[in-house]
This record gives sequence, structure tokens and C-alpha cells, in this order.
Amino acid sequence: MSERDPIVRINSLPPDEGPVDRRPLPRREDRCRLLSPELQASLEREIVVALLPSLARITHRSETSLHPDLAAAVSEFFPLYEQRPVQNNTGGSLFNDSLSLYLTARLLVPTLIVESGTFRGHSAWLLRHACPEAEILSFDIDLSQLEHREPDVTYYEGDWTDFPLPAIAAELALIWFDDHINQAMRLHEAHNRGFRRTLFDDNFPAYNLYATGGAPVPTLAMAIDESLHDGMRLVWTRHRKTYEYVYKQSHTFDVQSLICLCQPLPDLVHITRYSPSSALTYVETVP
Ligand SMILES: C[S@@+](CC[C@H](N)C(=O)[O-])C[C@H]1O[C@@H](n2cnc3c(N)ncnc32)[C@H](O)[C@@H]1O
Repeated sequence: MSERDPIVRINSLPPDEGPVDRRPLPRREDRCRLLSPELQASLEREIVVALLPSLARITHRSETSLHPDLAAAVSEFFPLYEQRPVQNNTGGSLFNDSLSLYLTARLLVPTLIVESGTFRGHSAWLLRHACPEAEILSFDIDLSQLEHREPDVTYYEGDWTDFPLPAIAAELALIWFDDHINQAMRLHEAHNRGFRRTLFDDNFPAYNLYATGGAPVPTLAMAIDESLHDGMRLVWTRHRKTYEYVYKQSHTFDVQSLICLCQPLPDLVHITRYSPSSALTYVETVP
């Protein structure tokens, strides 16, 4: 449990029984790709079809006007991703999340991007390529993990709430949380600091909390889930560890009332067949 997140109780209980698989993780996205341009074009078309409705809502553009920009951005992404400086980003964004992050940032065209959860530096690198003109500030409580330092990104060691920020025009800024901290609290903090456009990774409903390590509870999906109630014990297991979180409505900071658009991006795993699944959600809050 992070000191920054004292209200969250995730208790690691003794590991469950079962064989340990110590083989390296398969990196299918590196080993398997299309070599024929016609098939590559078909794959890109399927990705555009899947993402167009949600990205049109996020950017407040019509599908017709967005379509050519989205198709171009999807095509740019494939060769860019092959050149990524952090080749093995296990534990951070892999293919599907990287694609959704790149497209969302590229099409929103923010002039200021704040990232919470730098890790090895992959997502900051991606954001720099998605938004070449933006000022990018990247925060992590442990920068010793950083493998790639992008020359034009400013890195801070610590929680983003401990640092002053440049004056922002809310409609031009974007904040991206990939830090496994209570998402409702993060949305509340971002709104209080003037952000209106927020992007989250790992926004899973309570019944999928096993899908990520250190689930950012309560997630946004949990904050708007009326079936959860005070004192409810949520218990799950992941990679031989058992976790427990006791839900409290006060942990949600009543963020439901702040949200005017909550748009999960479709998971791309059934199109790309690369794992793991993607789970980005864009949120716009009231002025
Ligand atoms: C899943 S990784 C981020 C992955 C990265 N964004 C990417 O796409 O490659 C989560 C990171 O959040 C960081 N973290 C944990 N608590 C944090 C906090 N309070 N503020 C910022 N980062 C934090 C961890 O140190 C870890 O590096």
C-alpha cells in the first residue's frame, strides 16, 4: 500500500498453491507480424472500424471527419512501435495499450500532458511521438526503473500532487494515470487542479480485478457501480497472491457527479491477437 493512498486496503495474503511457470513471457507482438502489405492494410482497417465511434466521441468530431486522421495515425503507429527504445516493457504498456494511448493523444492534440506512472519511460516516449509539440511532464515515485529518457520530457520523482504545474488551459491539457493508485481519487485530484480531460489505464470492473497487478481500487468502473456497498469484501487472486479490498463509498470521492463523459476504448485483443488486453478509459469532467 502506498503512503499516498492510505484509504486503500489491499492485503496480500499467503500465496495460493500451484506450480510456478518460470518461462519468459511470450512476446508475441515481436515474433508475429504481417509481411504482406494487403493484409497489413486489412488489419489497420479493422482497428479503425473498432476505434472510430469511441474516438469520435472523445474528440467531439464526426466519424466522417475523424476517419482519415485516425487511419493515418494507425498506419504511422506500426513502424513507430517497432522502433521503441524500451523493447521489453513487460509490466507496462504493450502493443494494444500503446496503440490506444498513441491514437487518443494524437487525436486530442493536447499542449500539456501530465503522466503519472513513468516506469521504464515507454509511454512518455510514445506520447512525445504522438504529440511532438506538447509539453510533457512525467511523474513516478521510483525513477530508478527509467530505461529511456526522452530529451524533451521533464521527469519528476514523486507523486504528481507534490509538484507545482504550469498554468493550464483545461481544454488543451491531458492527464494520463497509469500508476495503480485509486482512480476515483486521481480523478478528484485532477479535476481540483484544473484538468478536464483524463485518461486511465486498468479501469476494470470489480469482477475483473484479477486482470492487473495492484489494481487501482476503486476503479472508475467501481465508482459508478451501484451494486457495491460499504463494507463489501472484494477478494481475488493473481499470480499466486491473494488480495482483499474492503469497498467504501467514501473512497470514490463522489466522482460520479464530476463525470460528463466516460468512454472506455474497445479492447483490441480480438483484432490484433496480441496479449494482454487493453483497458484504457477516457473521462471528461464538468467545467
Ligand atoms: C504500470 S507502471 C507504468 C507503465 C508506463 N506508464 C508504461 O506505459 O510503460 C506503474 C508505475 O507507477 C508507479 N507509481 C506507483 N505509485 C506512484 C505514484 N504515487 N505516483 C507516480 N507513479 C507511481 C510505479 O513506480 C510504476 O513505475
